[in-house]
Amino acid sequence: MKILVVGGGGREHAIIKKLKENKDIDKIYALPGNGGIAADAECVSIGATDIDGIVRFAVENSIDYAVVAPDDPLVLGCVDALEEKGIPCFGPRSEAAIIEGSKVFSKNLMKKYGIPTAAYEVFSDADKALEYIKTAPIPTVIKADGLALGKGVIIAQTREEAEDAVISIMKDKKFGKSGNSIVIEEFLEGPEVSVLSFTDGKTVVPMISSMDHKRAGDNDTGLNTGGMGTVAPNPYYTEAVARECMDKIFIPTINAMNAEGRTFKGCLYFGLMITKDGPKVIEYNCRFGDPETQVVLPLLRSDLFTIMRATTDGTLSETEVEFYDKKAACVIMASEGYPVAYEKGYEITIPDDIADCVFVAGAAHKDGKLLTSGGRVLGVTAIADSLKEAVDASYGMVERIHFDNAYYRSDIGKRALEAEV
Ligand code: AMP
Ligand code: GLY
Repeated sequence: MKILVVGGGGREHAIIKKLKENKDIDKIYALPGNGGIAADAECVSIGATDIDGIVRFAVENSIDYAVVAPDDPLVLGCVDALEEKGIPCFGPRSEAAIIEGSKVFSKNLMKKYGIPTAAYEVFSDADKALEYIKTAPIPTVIKADGLALGKGVIIAQTREEAEDAVISIMKDKKFGKSGNSIVIEEFLEGPEVSVLSFTDGKTVVPMISSMDHKRAGDNDTGLNTGGMGTVAPNPYYTEAVARECMDKIFIPTINAMNAEGRTFKGCLYFGLMITKDGPKVIEYNCRFGDPETQVVLPLLRSDLFTIMRATTDGTLSETEVEFYDKKAACVIMASEGYPVAYEKGYEITIPDDIADCVFVAGAAHKDGKLLTSGGRVLGVTAIADSLKEAVDASYGMVERIHFDNAYYRSDIGKRALEAEV
């Protein structure tokens, strides 16, 4: 079987490494992949948003199955275009990917179907939004409607910050047309949990829960990033919380999407906050999380490719989805200065004995060397019987990996460890 994976980050590397466990797969192409992924797949320099190029490549190379991992191609209709050519895919069609592609859509969906989330207002007129802010409860949360490279959420601690956010999103168009509409919502408090789930549109199977560390600095300080590390499972996600999420959030969301004629297939990511009034949805993503995938998939005992095909074929209820009863921690090694400005082109050295534990996010090959090429460079994942051992093992490996200008948080897993006791 020939598989194509769209994307080129640490998440895609984790997906590809897991897919390779399936012996029916003879060949994996990554579009575009990266210098590290090249060790596990053939990388082809076609960009993840070049839908025509992806489809052409898939047809010319008789691809049997495609995995579309990032948000942009999903929202742009990559799955639709591949399926039109008869190529089965893992991932939602664009009509369902809108659950991430438009925050106005997802908020209205939750309101219509009674799915717990923060109270909100929608604005498409900047002056009306500014008027509303004059009396809105502070802190308040301002969200650009469309995709904004993970930067479209601003938590305003003061009325002035809220006004600035509205002006930069709606008037200065900081995120282009993603800011034509905004959501202004209630500020919620509580621990956050990421739950990725497999769904074929009928059955929803949550994967093991995880905790992201989004801020750049230790103790959750500094700027928001794509994610500086993860642990799984998330200790705040107790069995009671899991049951409540299943009944009040997961199943109602799948049903709501069906009722809207937008059946969701693939990986639906629930970004949850466990508030004192119970779990609420902070965001939906139409894809695997990054770097959640780097802790969740290594814990998957069952065969990923079999599960993926079951989401496509509608046979998920008959398919085994089992996880190891273990803990995982992933520390992201980034370039100093990420998420703002950083230098690239430094040589990376990874000892051979730990290469299997490293997911490469931003690296390129040049003259036989692996060089840093992005903000997030590597994700280093360890698995152990206890979270403490997993965290220590991950940091132990990080210390053996070298590139100039490397930066990583030193407290990944700290909050989870405190919550465990
Ligand atoms: P997102 O880009 O949607 O992942 O949001 C980024 C982060 O903003 C989330 O992980 C939360 O930490 C925070 N956030 C989003 N919405 C809210 C909210 N209503 N209340 C408090 N924090 C929020
Ligand atoms: N780690 C958060 C995300 O993938 O959106």
